[in-house]
Amino acid sequence: MSKDEVTLGEIIANFKITGEVNKIEQFGDGLINQTYFVETKGSSNPNYILQNKNTNIFKDIPGMMSNIKRVTAHIKSKVEQAGGDPEREAMTVIESKSGVPFYKDEQGNFWTLYLFIADTQTYESADTPEAAYAGGKGIGKFQRMLSDMEGELTDILPGFHNIRYRFQQWDEVVRKDPVGRKKELSAEIDWIESRRGEMMGFWKLVESGEIPTRVTHNDTKINNILFDQKGDVLCVIDLDTVLSSTVLNDFGDAIRSYTNTGLEDDPDLSKVSMDMQIFEGFTKGYVSEAKAFLTESEKRYLAFSAKFITYEQVLRFLMDYIDGDNYYKVTYEDHNLVRTRAQYHLLQSIEAQMDAMNAIVKESCSTI
Ligand SMILES: Nc1ncnc2c1ncn2[C@@H]1O[C@H](COP(=O)(O)OP(=O)(O)O)[C@@H](O)[C@H]1O
Ligand SMILES: [Mg+2]
Repeated sequence: MSKDEVTLGEIIANFKITGEVNKIEQFGDGLINQTYFVETKGSSNPNYILQNKNTNIFKDIPGMMSNIKRVTAHIKSKVEQAGGDPEREAMTVIESKSGVPFYKDEQGNFWTLYLFIADTQTYESADTPEAAYAGGKGIGKFQRMLSDMEGELTDILPGFHNIRYRFQQWDEVVRKDPVGRKKELSAEIDWIESRRGEMMGFWKLVESGEIPTRVTHNDTKINNILFDQKGDVLCVIDLDTVLSSTVLNDFGDAIRSYTNTGLEDDPDLSKVSMDMQIFEGFTKGYVSEAKAFLTESEKRYLAFSAKFITYEQVLRFLMDYIDGDNYYKVTYEDHNLVRTRAQYHLLQSIEAQMDAMNAIVKESCSTI
């Protein structure tokens, strides 16, 4: 064992694992946490996934892990009812020896351990309608299994996708104009202001409960879904961002990222648009699961949610640009402005295709 492995071995020794550790290696290419694969000796013992949690992003790991415990317990009960395997179709959190779902080391780092789910397949991107369908089905199934979970989760990312809160931040940043960038941005600021009423109108429906609050995943990238060897959805992973909000956030954010024919920061706007075939694939996959629980008001706002989430992203990039680039990492001077323009171009493409998107939602909800 290398020195690193000895240290990681010491971390693992604080968890209730079965078997003896054989080797530990870096795993996957997740962007947020450091992930390690922990192999145990003997084929009858399970292997594990160890993670060093990113505490810059997540300030409340105990709150996060208690959310994850509740969510995984609920999914496991659904899998059991359906006669499935709760250790493959749900994440299993391993407790520390002191009985909590994480371990905090002497330096203050937080570690978590899960059962490793073997023999799976993943997609790296959703660039075909078939992959988009699989992604939509995965997210829809996840939400469906959680649609009857009672009680709200701990709010570990306050303000996340809350446009009322974003407008408060926005008003303050625009008023302060801390680095003097505002004077060049009257067109861009108007992109935000001209749609403010429409966005708040939607958000008020969420606040009033007309659009229900449920469990949402909030990181719907397709590589956070494990598929079995036949290609069927097995398990949604990476539950760090589970929150109580509207499920439309997950749908809208998936459409924003899956359907973009360009890059999030594409300097060439001619490459950026919403791909209707990907939208259709994702929507059909999603609705095949989600129609079991979606209310009429959720269905009515499904296509709109793509506009809402993309608008929020335009606002956040532009706000960070005006604020002097404090939140998003930038690699060149106008990076946040380039991102703003690229996401705004996507927003316009979504707006131009809204009737067709609504028609696909309607058709999917009535025929699947
Ligand atoms: N329980 C698990 N079983 C199998 N593979 C896993 C498991 N948890 C994570 N992984 C793999 O590790 C990668 C990174 O984990 P993830 O939780 O998504 O980290 P990040 O938050 O950094 O994206 C995943 O994309 C997946 O391939
Ligand atoms: Mg991930």
